[in-house]
Amino acid sequence: MAKGPTDHLSPATRLTLAGRRPEWTGTADQPGAVVSPPVWRASTHLYPDTAALKQGPRSNADGRFYYGRRGAPTQWALAEALTELEPAAGEGGGTMLYPSGVAAIAGALLAALRPGDVLLMTDNAYDPSRVLARGWLAEWGVETRWFDPQDPAALAAACCERTRAVLLESPGSLTMEVQDVPALAAIAHHHRACVILDNTWASPLGFAALAHGVDISVMSLTKHVGGHSDLMMGSATAGAEWYAKLRRTAQVTGQVVSPDDAALALRGLRSMAVRLERETASALTLARWLATRPEVAHVLCPMLPGSPGHELWARDFTGGCGLFSVVLKGGTAAARDALIDALGLFGIGYSWGGFESLVTPLDPASARSAVDWPLPGMDPADRFGVRLSIGLDDPADLQADLERGLTAWSAAR
Ligand SMILES: Cc1ncc(COP(=O)(O)O)c(C=O)c1O
Repeated sequence: MAKGPTDHLSPATRLTLAGRRPEWTGTADQPGAVVSPPVWRASTHLYPDTAALKQGPRSNADGRFYYGRRGAPTQWALAEALTELEPAAGEGGGTMLYPSGVAAIAGALLAALRPGDVLLMTDNAYDPSRVLARGWLAEWGVETRWFDPQDPAALAAACCERTRAVLLESPGSLTMEVQDVPALAAIAHHHRACVILDNTWASPLGFAALAHGVDISVMSLTKHVGGHSDLMMGSATAGAEWYAKLRRTAQVTGQVVSPDDAALALRGLRSMAVRLERETASALTLARWLATRPEVAHVLCPMLPGSPGHELWARDFTGGCGLFSVVLKGGTAAARDALIDALGLFGIGYSWGGFESLVTPLDPASARSAVDWPLPGMDPADRFGVRLSIGLDDPADLQADLERGLTAWSAAR
């Protein structure tokens, strides 16, 4: 849609222009031109003759009609828009879409790993990533070793000649440690391993993953991009070399998303910068307040000084989001549950990044392999907490709600 290159424009501006090619929307001088690429539903695309049909599979390029599994303009527009948010993807780079964030993580790992390889996984990785490694990847002959997310030397020590992929998550979506991604990527590349980052927390608006040395940047679009808790989708964005491998793997395994969901994700994308800005500001206000409360032992919020890796967040990130964790001072799991049950504005449910505020129990002990929970330096008695996803509500209302929850916790502990 933009007349000319957009690389020099700020990400918030690119967000409003991306993926709006004139061939998908029409142009303003044509009757019927539209702002957003319409929902283009199709499994079958028709060919004029058999010669054209036979050519179809041979031209496996982006933006070419072939068969519904390779998408149509609605999905292509979303993929292109996501790639435009990572300018370091460069010529030939691109984005694959998947039916969920977990499918995107699996797609990236499958593109990078073969039987006999070793995967190094950060110890703060999202639990289903760990489950995938322990179960399915292990059965297919891939060995996984976990390393301390905050210690590049631990990654260096764990690398071997069979290491072919390193999975990072920065910050971890439960325990919130921010990682030194450029240092970790340099170590991985020294061993010729592919660096995959789950960049769902910050999105490319808050962390330009490919520009910081990542090979494949994965997002659960279910979170900030969708933004309204009504769709599931994932993406993997990469430069030319890894994009080609992602594409081949996704095509072989039949990954495709519906055009209706792609249109919803595109709609969410347009307002993502404003939502993230508001959620980040509200989260910081609440995190600062919670840090002053006597019931609270730790606030794990990357934007807050003292949170693990905060200085790396300040060095590398241009934004945050509304997701953070709170560790309570002593108490029991039952008292923590009483806190959650006393909340009236926070929905109790999985996921995050939507317009609504959510809360879940924080019990990460069973999801650690290299560094135990509570983390080093924490009192072992401080182990129960909550994870908050701050939405678009007024933070003053959320603060009053949390105050009610903390009172219930004090009564129950
Ligand atoms: C950090 C992170 N990555 C990936 C996922 C998976 O995304 P999805 O739920 O879209 O499969 C989640 C879901 O909660 C997540 O928190």
